[in-house]
Amino acid sequence: MKKKIIVFDTTLRDGEQVPGCQLNTVEKIEVAENLEDMGVDVIEAGFPISSPGDFNSVSEIAKVIKKSTVCALSRAVAKDIEAAWESIKKARNPRIHTFISSSDIHIKYQFKSTREKILAQGVEAVKLAKSFCEDVEFSAMDAGRTGNGFLAKFIESVITAGATTVNIPDTTGYCLPDEFGQKIKFLFENVKNIHKAIVSVHCHNDLGMATANTISAVQNGARQIEVTVNGVGERAGNTSLEEAVMIIKTRQQLHKFTNIDTKKIYPISRLVSRLMRMPVQPNKAIVGRNAFAHSSGIHQDGVLKNKFTYELINPCEVGLSESSLALTARSGRSALKHHLERLGFSITAEELDDVYQQFVRLADQKKDISDDDLRQIMGQKPKGDGASLELLEVVCGRPLTPKATVKLLIEGKEYTATAIGNGPVDATFKAINNIVRKKVLLEEFLIQAITKGSDDIGKVHIQVSYKGNYYYGFGTDTDIVVASAKAYLNVLNKVI
Ligand code: KIV
Ligand code: ZN
Repeated sequence: MKKKIIVFDTTLRDGEQVPGCQLNTVEKIEVAENLEDMGVDVIEAGFPISSPGDFNSVSEIAKVIKKSTVCALSRAVAKDIEAAWESIKKARNPRIHTFISSSDIHIKYQFKSTREKILAQGVEAVKLAKSFCEDVEFSAMDAGRTGNGFLAKFIESVITAGATTVNIPDTTGYCLPDEFGQKIKFLFENVKNIHKAIVSVHCHNDLGMATANTISAVQNGARQIEVTVNGVGERAGNTSLEEAVMIIKTRQQLHKFTNIDTKKIYPISRLVSRLMRMPVQPNKAIVGRNAFAHSSGIHQDGVLKNKFTYELINPCEVGLSESSLALTARSGRSALKHHLERLGFSITAEELDDVYQQFVRLADQKKDISDDDLRQIMGQKPKGDGASLELLEVVCGRPLTPKATVKLLIEGKEYTATAIGNGPVDATFKAINNIVRKKVLLEEFLIQAITKGSDDIGKVHIQVSYKGNYYYGFGTDTDIVVASAKAYLNVLNKVI
């Protein structure tokens, strides 16, 4: 029988520690509600003693969350534990999470203490937390670098003191997957009362092994995994929710399941990225923009014959509508034929050979092959794939109100509109919206300099969502507002 793995999400605590990613209370509530909706079992809402703002966010989350457990972090210090309880006491399912380090390096240099004193402090912390709340989690910080013997003794003592979940963090992302799995196994074999608590793991990604370590721990009996959306978190981040959950779902051999509605994975990834202003790397597993984009000829050919040749997961399972076959100079005849058929051209094998040669020559010069390029190759008049930018005039700078005028060419006709915004890009997008009336939601906006120097070409990536589907576009120009307008039109044309 499959065993349930408890998903503990710490996006709002460990994830939010990332510099520049702080969220306000309203944003945190939105993330928490989405986490609950997707089936997260435990939401770590924050570290209440750290600031009045965080205390307030945790209390507000505690009031609105009904199904998930709401957890507050505290050091193994009385005032932290009291604040943690104060913040979550109104939650339907409250949990206090208290922690102290167990590794010699932390005990000696950070705490300037001894193993005995630290162990006693951990035990006292659990007892105090338990006096407020039945559900108490204890974390032995830097357990990854803690000797197994001392760790086992520590864990046994905090379970005796009342901890209902014992968390084994690989705080510095040090362990190898096999080593971490063995650590969990050691605890199961050497902690007498281990069956009285749930064993949890919390891995960091400093050496890129967070997910592997988490899964190794699950294979050795861990029943709770601590994760964050998009793997955000301190330094190189934490185990990513989407990776761990999709491994458990995809690899049936693990005989485990989670409560996560995986169709909610992509939308929450976008939400967190947008609110934290933290782009997701394009090749990020599961949620990166290229995670389901096939571009080499061999792969495209395989996917067109049977998706599972190169696709482990159906993109619909994570909330995406479909995988994409990008047309690049590396694409093959199958992908080209597929796109031509999509545009209504039926083509014989001999014709395809000739068209393919023309396509490859063009693709060698252009990064993005549009539908109009294909129509032109096929001898048809370009349709003018939607709207193109004829003119852009922007007024901006302090203390002016940013204002943009755009002239677009749509199917041979010119349209002009002006709008104001909170910046030149916002004003430009609003002016475009006044002409192309499509209610899209901007999910991601990224500006990159292609090389160095202020005279460089800027590349803008945009992602929008429209009626539950996601679309990407990009544009380049030495003027980043023009590049933004081109990218926005590129994506709007795809929506249209
Ligand atoms: O990484 C860590 O050790 C932590 C603890 C507070 C659980 O975040
Ligand atoms: Zn952590």
